[in-house]
Amino acid sequence: MSLQSEIDRRKTFAIISHPDAGKTTLTEKLLLFGGAIQVAGAVKSNKIKKSATSDFMEIERQRGISVATSVMGFDYNGLKINILDTPGHQDFAEDTFRTLTAVDSVIVVIDVAKGVEAQTRKLVEVCRMRDTPIIVFINKLDRVGKDPFDLLDEVEKELKLNVRPLSWPIGMGQELKGVYNVFEHQLNLFSAHGKQSEDEVIKIEDLSDKTLDQQVGDSFANQLREDIELIDGVYETFDVQEYLAGKVSPVFFGSAINNFGVKELLDCFVKIAPSPQGGNTEQREIKPDESKLTGFVFKIHANMDPNHRDRLAFLRICSGKFERNKNYLHVRHGKQLKFSSPTAFMAEKKSIVDEAFPGDIVGLHDTGNFKIGDALTEGEKLSFTGIPSFSPELFKYVENADPMKSKQLAKGIDQLMDEGVAQLFTLKANNRKIIGTVGALQYEVIQYRLEHEYGAKCRYESVNLYKACWIDAESDKDLNDFVERKKQWIAEDKDGKLVYLAESSYNLQMMQETFPKVQFYFTSEYK
Ligand code: G4P
Repeated sequence: MSLQSEIDRRKTFAIISHPDAGKTTLTEKLLLFGGAIQVAGAVKSNKIKKSATSDFMEIERQRGISVATSVMGFDYNGLKINILDTPGHQDFAEDTFRTLTAVDSVIVVIDVAKGVEAQTRKLVEVCRMRDTPIIVFINKLDRVGKDPFDLLDEVEKELKLNVRPLSWPIGMGQELKGVYNVFEHQLNLFSAHGKQSEDEVIKIEDLSDKTLDQQVGDSFANQLREDIELIDGVYETFDVQEYLAGKVSPVFFGSAINNFGVKELLDCFVKIAPSPQGGNTEQREIKPDESKLTGFVFKIHANMDPNHRDRLAFLRICSGKFERNKNYLHVRHGKQLKFSSPTAFMAEKKSIVDEAFPGDIVGLHDTGNFKIGDALTEGEKLSFTGIPSFSPELFKYVENADPMKSKQLAKGIDQLMDEGVAQLFTLKANNRKIIGTVGALQYEVIQYRLEHEYGAKCRYESVNLYKACWIDAESDKDLNDFVERKKQWIAEDKDGKLVYLAESSYNLQMMQETFPKVQFYFTSEYK
């Protein structure tokens, strides 16, 4: 098969949601459709359990298991679909942000009763920054939830998305009759826990057709007619190009657990979702059909077993063909590397692959060479962009608790930061180090791993900070004036970029007003 046809048949995406909206259930149903798993529960058993939220060792152990489900590939109608899993636990939100840099589109799952929740808001914001095409799936229709029109308004307002409903619910909860597929003009009747068979789908070109009343009853039929009329009046016709540009999001309704509305979603997804997109670098834009390999590392997974210190680096292939045992340039180190056992992921199985194509993710065994964002090429010196760090939410000073082990501590911190476990800021005034994280759990993870993997001990000291702001100004003088004023809270991030650690939102606002020529950014990539 030619490179182009390999590209055309791939779709790489992530499912994102607030915990409990149904991401895992939907993932499973998609895998079942693809025949990639035979029984429900296969993915679920790898999910980080809610009960484990206070027990980080358990979470790390389960994270170890979940390496297998980091990427779930499956074949569907001749296409190769790669679902990238994202951790549901909010303390690992940074992992999820990075995973979003490696996908070409996303499906957002929203609970019909709960509507838009905090985590959904954050994740969609990251997608919007990149204009990632988004499909919305409103889940749990078998339960009574919000009015669908209100829900769409909420999605538009809270997630700042323009929506187009492509399916529409007929009833809800106990009264759920089915969904009407606006895209295909089909009625899909609901039967709890039933497999959706072809004969449950009824073609209704014209809504005045009496078949509708016979199937769902007069009252629901009339309601649907009214709803669809309203939809046609309010929303413009769905335009695939606008979706691909990240400007419009189609919306589907269903119930993942009942396998209802999932096939419509999948069938539309395979029709409209983008194929692999290449990538952006500081040097130039990469097209997926270039013959030479390029790819970047978006995730590193450490082995929790102290006897095996190797790690797995996840490479997203952007162009060309990846081959086993071929030499590639590790751009940051300027050295050639080859991989004898690159891993591919199919459903819950891992296997060694000989080749992989744009859109694919391969796992590379690594002894500490890689860090997040690293590029692999056939010789060209490229630095990928679009893999920013985001301002952490929590900050603590980190101190050496065992003076005999300062080297080990430095190495451990360095490697954990390369893995993206947390972010390190070094204050310019006194060289003190501050670790910033998204969740409290990371501090325990770091302390534990430093001790067990590097033989080093650290302790934390609290520091009250609001946000890390990457700073820039057109003139050096403006920047220096600000740096001079805020000396105490100016730090460097791991790449040596200047960061202002704002003490409070009030302080930040004051500084923005006092230094209008200085720009403050909440992400490390702002140019
Ligand atoms: P997550 O990955 O987004 O965190 O959500 P997950 O799929 O684990 O689903 C969260 C809960 O919602 C699960 O129940 C799941 O069974 C349920 N669920 C998923 N889809 C639907 C749906 O369409 N309708 C209804 N009524 N429930 C749904 P749980 O009790 O937390 O877990 P379990 O005991 O069922 O495994």
